This record gives sequence, structure tokens and C-alpha cells, in this order.
Amino acid sequence: MGIAQDARAALVFGQEVYRSKLSTAYHATVHRDPIARLRTRDGRVDPYSVYAELRAGGVLTPTRLGNLATVDHAIAKSVLTSRSFGVRPEDGPASSEATFDLSFLDRNEPDHGRLRRVAAPAFSPRMVRGYRSRIEELVDALVGRLAVGEPVDFVHAFAAPLPIGVITRMFGIDENTGIDTAAFARYGAALGGSLDGIHSLRHARELMQAAAAMQTMFERLLEVRAVDPRDDLASVLVAERGDQVRSDELLSMCVLLLVAGFETTVNLLGNALLALQDHPDQWQLLTEQPELAGHAVEETLRWNPPVQRTERVSFRDQEVAGVPVRQGQWILLLLGGTGRDPQVFPDPDRFDITRSHGAEHLAFSSGIHYCLGAPLARLEATIALEQLAMRLPGIRRAGPVTMRRTTLIRGPLHLPISAG
Ligand code: HEM
Repeated sequence: MGIAQDARAALVFGQEVYRSKLSTAYHATVHRDPIARLRTRDGRVDPYSVYAELRAGGVLTPTRLGNLATVDHAIAKSVLTSRSFGVRPEDGPASSEATFDLSFLDRNEPDHGRLRRVAAPAFSPRMVRGYRSRIEELVDALVGRLAVGEPVDFVHAFAAPLPIGVITRMFGIDENTGIDTAAFARYGAALGGSLDGIHSLRHARELMQAAAAMQTMFERLLEVRAVDPRDDLASVLVAERGDQVRSDELLSMCVLLLVAGFETTVNLLGNALLALQDHPDQWQLLTEQPELAGHAVEETLRWNPPVQRTERVSFRDQEVAGVPVRQGQWILLLLGGTGRDPQVFPDPDRFDITRSHGAEHLAFSSGIHYCLGAPLARLEATIALEQLAMRLPGIRRAGPVTMRRTTLIRGPLHLPISAG
């Protein structure tokens, strides 16, 4: 997940499509190659049928560039938790350096652990519990904005403002810091929206500008908190500056925390409401038992997760599920497909918020890069669904949904609803 990882995805995934575009038999090739098809319109609309095809073909599918892909839950998990795989080749450069640095998401050990330890205290169970009342306040205000009688776009009116509001407050950004919160939200959205990669030179330039503006804002925030510490994330981070972590590393970390937590959560909220509206019996059940909200969040993460894939590179020649994997070879882990693995989730295509999850889905990944913000994302989404089901049980779709055109991040771009 992230720009860095998407740059890696470009290596193992995008180029495969690019190459096949060069081939004269482009359409025939893409049609035959399920991995390439994931990047086409068909694959975007319904990646799950492509995943099913991959599953039927075996546990590891070779890709056109000589890498491998899997939708198998057990194999994906074993790769993610293995010490002989990493997010970049052992002595390799960060594939993202050309755009911007995504801190520990894009580092192997020991750098990964050194940097992650700095941010981790801000996501401890105690700290996350402390964010509850702020999230409740925000959700309360946003639910009020939906209850207007007119159809509204759920993504614009609710799913996008919630995570940006939570992160802004978590960092401790308010009027007293001298930071323009509206500009912060705007740049945050621009960077968050880039998770799926860079589409053009112009887009790259815009992102670099947003990243530079963001860095300046974070520099200022850290300076303010260095002299006036509070009970917030910026103060936690700035206290660590020095021996363990340099100032520039701290700034990249701030950008990571913002980018990783934004678009992902927007799409979790969008996917959850969409799934519940497409399964009216499940929505009805949630309105009768709002305490099932946490289950509905887990089921959404399994059934239609916001982050559809990640990838790892092998540090050495080895075997995975009996298949030889060479040093330097990448394995594409199709997280969205692993949630539909029938070996782990019986009747996997059914969306059922009462399902008891024996094994955890891989929507937050696994191993050392397991999503640091998972407890926060879960809390936000649970409070949101609980409040929506209790206060607006009459929510209905009020027009056609438009899905994002992106494939790494999956979710609705517009979801018109009426709350009346
Ligand atoms: C539904 C919401 C979210 C989803 C689906 C999600 C998903 C993920 C995934 C799949 C990874 C690992 C990628 C890999 O293994 O290659 C990850 C890592 C990460 N996430 Fe999240 N995330 C979400 C929300 C958040 C939030 C709210 C934050 C923080 C505010 C956050 C911060 C991070 C960080 C810092 C990492 C890097 C962890 C590491 O490399 O050690 N995420 N996330």
C-alpha cells in the first residue's frame, strides 16, 4: 500500500500490462492473462471473478515478467510473515525515492523497526481509546449533515471528512498552531488520493507540490510542539527526535501516517455502506442490532477491502508451497482475493455480518508491516456504522454509484444516498 509500494507494484504489475500493451496481440494477451486483466476496466469492475480464475489455476500464478501472484490466504500470510521476504531487495534502493519517501512502510529491518517504534506509542490501545470521544463528536456532526432529506453523496459528505478530521485532531493541528486546517485537509486529500500511483507528469508535479507544502506544515507543527508539548501525536513524535530518528525521517513519517490513514479509511467506510445497502437484509439486521457494527466492519474488510494488493521480494532462492522462488523475484499478494479463500472462509462470496471469523482477513496485511493504524481504522468505522444504523435506519441508495478508477485502492468515488 502507498506510493512506495505502488512504485513496486509498477515494477511487478504495471510493467506487465505496459509490456503487453506493446505487443501487437494486446487484447488477446490481456484477455488470456488474468493478472493483466486486473488493470483493465473488467478487472476493476469485478476483480473477484479474476481472483476466482487465478484460484482455479493453482496457488501461485506466474506473471508475464517472471514474478508470481497469489490469492491463497495461507501462502500470502506465510510470505508476509517470512523473514526471507522484504518490501525492497536487501541492498536495493527505495523504488519510491523519485517521488517521496514513505518512511517505514517502504523499509526492511532494521530501519523499519527503528522508525516504527517511534510512531507505535501513538497507536497503543490506551491512546486509541483516548481518540474515541473525538471520533464520536465528529461522527455525530457528520451524521447530522446527512440527515437533510435531500440526496447526498455519502463519500463527499461523510466518508472523506471523517478520517481527515480524525487525523488532523490526532496530530494536534488546530487554529493555535498557525496551520491552515483547510489547506492541510486539501493537501492531505491530494496525497491520499495518490495511493494508486501517478498517472501523468502533471499529476507527479502536483503531488510533489502537495508533498512539499505538507512537509512545511509538518515542520512548523513539530517546531510548535517542541516548545509547547501537548497530548497529541506531533508531541509524541517530536520527543523522539535526536538519537533514534533524524528530523527529515520524522517528516516522512508524518506524511506516511497521513497518507496511509486517509484514502484507506475513506474507502472502508464507502465499501461498508455500499455492501450494506446492496444487502438490505444485512442493513436491516444492523439497524436492529447496532452492536454488530464491529462485525460489519470486519466482514467488509474481508469481502471488499480498500487495499487490494501488496507485494514482497524474495531475499534468497527458496521454495514457497513447493514452487521455486528466486532471489529478487516478487510475489504479488492479492489481498482482496485472500478474503475469498474458501479454505479459510466458508461460502466466501456471501456478505454476512454475523459470520464468525476463525482466521483474520489480510486487509491490514500481516507480519512486521501489519497496519499500524488498524485499531484506529476499526474504531472509526465501528462508531460510524453504529451511529448511522441507529440514527438513520432509513438510509437508501439514491442514484447510481461511481466506483474509483483505481485498482490498488478499491471503493466508491460517489455513493448517492438519501437518509429520509
Ligand atoms: C481501513 C483502513 C486501512 C487499511 C485497509 C489499511 C491497510 C494497510 C495495509 C494493507 C498495510 C500494509 C501494507 C504491506 O504490508 O505492504 C498498512 C500499513 C500501514 N498503515 Fe494502514 N490501513 C488502514 C488505515 C490506516 C490508518 C488509519 C493509519 C494511521 C493513521 C494507517 C497507518 C499505516 C502505517 C503507518 C502502515 C505501515 C506499517 C509498517 O510498514 O510497519 N493505516 N495499512
